[in-house]
Amino acid sequence: MVQVTYVSFDGKRSAVDVEPGYSMMEGAVRNSVAGIDADCGGNMYCATCRVSVEDEWRTKLDQQSDYELQLLDAVGETDPKVRLSCQIKVSDALNGIVLQMPEKQK
Ligand code: FES
Repeated sequence: MVQVTYVSFDGKRSAVDVEPGYSMMEGAVRNSVAGIDADCGGNMYCATCRVSVEDEWRTKLDQQSDYELQLLDAVGETDPKVRLSCQIKVSDALNGIVLQMPEKQK
């Protein structure tokens, strides 16, 4: 299991264990962590699963696809730290990762 900490906009931390292979979005939803809406269920068309990832962890993530970049651009997201959590696959290399959630998903 991989420990993932989701931090709400007001600082509430939820540390949960997620099985490798799931997405970070699924890790939140399956553990009832509030703050990730995931309206499209991970099909990459809602952008309501956004999280901010600090630099120390961003370098360990898979490269963003063009489509992820386009979707973030389409919703006006300009912060390079922001990713779609449904596109981040949980792996052992990410054990201990901290994900900051926005006040509202768009
Ligand atoms: S869950 Fe819809 S884009 Fe990630």
